[in-house]
Amino acid sequence: MFRVLVSDKIAQEGLAPLLESDQIVCVQKNVNEVDDLDSYNAILVRSATKVTAEVMEKMPNLKIIARAGVGVDNVDLVAAKERGIVVVNAPTGNTISTAEHTFALMLALARKVCAANASIRKEEWNRAAFGGIELAGKTLGIIGFGRIGSEVAKRAQAFDMNIIAYSPSMTKERADNLGITAGTINEILAQSDIITFHCAITPETKGLLNMDSFKKTKPGVMIINAARGGIVDEEALKHYLANGHVAGAAIDVYPQEPPADYDLVKMDNVVATPHIAASTAEAQLKVAVIVAEDVLNVATGKPVQNPVTV
Ligand code: MLT
Repeated sequence: MFRVLVSDKIAQEGLAPLLESDQIVCVQKNVNEVDDLDSYNAILVRSATKVTAEVMEKMPNLKIIARAGVGVDNVDLVAAKERGIVVVNAPTGNTISTAEHTFALMLALARKVCAANASIRKEEWNRAAFGGIELAGKTLGIIGFGRIGSEVAKRAQAFDMNIIAYSPSMTKERADNLGITAGTINEILAQSDIITFHCAITPETKGLLNMDSFKKTKPGVMIINAARGGIVDEEALKHYLANGHVAGAAIDVYPQEPPADYDLVKMDNVVATPHIAASTAEAQLKVAVIVAEDVLNVATGKPVQNPVTV
């Protein structure tokens, strides 16, 4: 029997092929609560479970680590590769949900929706306090132009925004075809009214917005990070929010989750959510189906569809 440990909450319907297979035993339990880790051949996770080298040491029969989502920063890829463990993810499953959440955050920021809502719930009627801005005509800087960045751009075009985007593989031709501008990171910082991140966290992107680079942004800029905590340095963000240079920030992701402290998320001009960009019924079903298929592939000796490392 091929034994699968489902360590985070993953959509049940998507796991059906594993739960129904007579070649597979599927156990749903957090990795830290399992005694017989050595009996498992596969582990399925979202972002909460950290699949470290130490965890892999306790799982000598592990063949596949399946990440029901995009980011694999919670998996030690080097340790997996050294042990010949396949790592797969679900690169397409939550694209739309994350792009839509980015827009929820952007509109909430532009129209001060959360603060206005908190105020009216206290039975206040303070129309003067919640003047906002229109998105139409504003320049949206998109850093990271993969699947999610491009879906954000499409939606921004529907809102009549001007788009300037950066990704290492962006070409002028592609940008022209999409009706957007290809820019460098410095051009994006200098020109954007709103900057949104859709890149992975890497040594190049960690602290991309910091005490120095914030100085290159426009006064009144708004910042959105639904990608990964740490791309925007939190101390620097707090500083520039406090002195008014940054008009508002919307944050879904944190360097440490749950956050080490809640000072930033409690600031007046901050809209914050607890890493829920991918948390829709649709996305969670899609990512579960995608990774379940690859676990089944490994269990039945077939090639995987979405390898991160093999
Ligand atoms: C992802 O990397 O797919 C998202 O951050 C969502 C998640 O962590 O599940």
